[in-house]
Amino acid sequence: MPNHFQPITIDDFEALAQKSLNAAIFGYFSSGADSEMTLQRNRQAYDQLLIRPKILVDVEKIDISTTILGQHIQTPIGFSPTAFHQMAHDDGELATARASASLGTCYCAATYSNYSMDDIQKAAQSISKDALQWFQLYVEKDREVTAKLVRHCEKVGYKALVVTVDRPRLGRRLIDTRTGFKLPSHLRLGNFSNEDDDDDARTGEGAYLTGHIDASLSWADLAWLRSLSSLPIVLKGIFRAEDARLAIQHGVSGLIVSNHGGRQLDGCPATLEVLPEIVDACKNTNVEVYIDGGIRKGTDVFKALALGARAVFIGRPVLWGLAYDGENGIKRVLNHLNYDLRLAMALAGTTSIDSISSDYVVPSSYYSFENKIKSKL
Ligand code: LAC
Repeated sequence: MPNHFQPITIDDFEALAQKSLNAAIFGYFSSGADSEMTLQRNRQAYDQLLIRPKILVDVEKIDISTTILGQHIQTPIGFSPTAFHQMAHDDGELATARASASLGTCYCAATYSNYSMDDIQKAAQSISKDALQWFQLYVEKDREVTAKLVRHCEKVGYKALVVTVDRPRLGRRLIDTRTGFKLPSHLRLGNFSNEDDDDDARTGEGAYLTGHIDASLSWADLAWLRSLSSLPIVLKGIFRAEDARLAIQHGVSGLIVSNHGGRQLDGCPATLEVLPEIVDACKNTNVEVYIDGGIRKGTDVFKALALGARAVFIGRPVLWGLAYDGENGIKRVLNHLNYDLRLAMALAGTTSIDSISSDYVVPSSYYSFENKIKSKL
């Protein structure tokens, strides 16, 4: 690509990241599990829905601000947890935190960040005292390690605990096995001190993140997690309405419909396909439903909100912006998506996040010629 190439879509940012990152790192960030069927399906699902615009609506002023768990955010597009940001840029998660705080969204910082949760929180606060950060948690076999992380994240100002529940074991990413991916040796895991732990057991090829995660985690442990702090709990990685009902019974405050960016169980549905049944299960409760996976355009955000998501989260697009130009690159990515969402809203005839209702979207089969014409034959 020529030097003057200006990225104007998320796919453009991805193409530039692929050029600038080494193949193992790009492979780790971009790949899904096994045959990547779910990875692709996450995106394709958005093409199965069509938006039916309303005409002659005054769309002069459009407001994309909203709230999640009672906290105000300037855009319904938050940042999903993703690991190892220093593989994309030296400033790593500090850049992500600053970009998120500058544009007034929610950054869900990962357990497996290269910077510590303290440094990430400080970076966000240096931009705005109102910066909103959640902490993504992996429950470790050594429960005392997890208990310490949870207590500490509440103390330093994170506002919710996002418990990832879709990876008792690591999905098989073929690219990582082929490239022998491991965390580059000059990088650290900021939330684990070297004395506590043998870093290499977490980050060496194949071993990283598998050896320590507690595969025995079950519903019975939620009471223990809740006892560790007063933070609201959000479960990330839910697929089934009956699990949503169990989550409600166990006192969670939010659910992220997620399949880990297609990196865990290959062959599970796209997140957009799952969203309606989870939204339905949470109807008439205070539990908020969010979604991640495959969101690359303003119209994708619009469709997810129309199907009942309170907000969406993006993972890889943040990494592509970070690889492109650190904090500034992430801001460009989010500014682009915010612009694209406002455009979609204007063209669809909506002016606020609350007004994006299910009435705006239909499955593409709604317009099939069979449906429309056969009846007249
Ligand atoms: C992964 C871990 C970090 O998906 O969640 O690679």
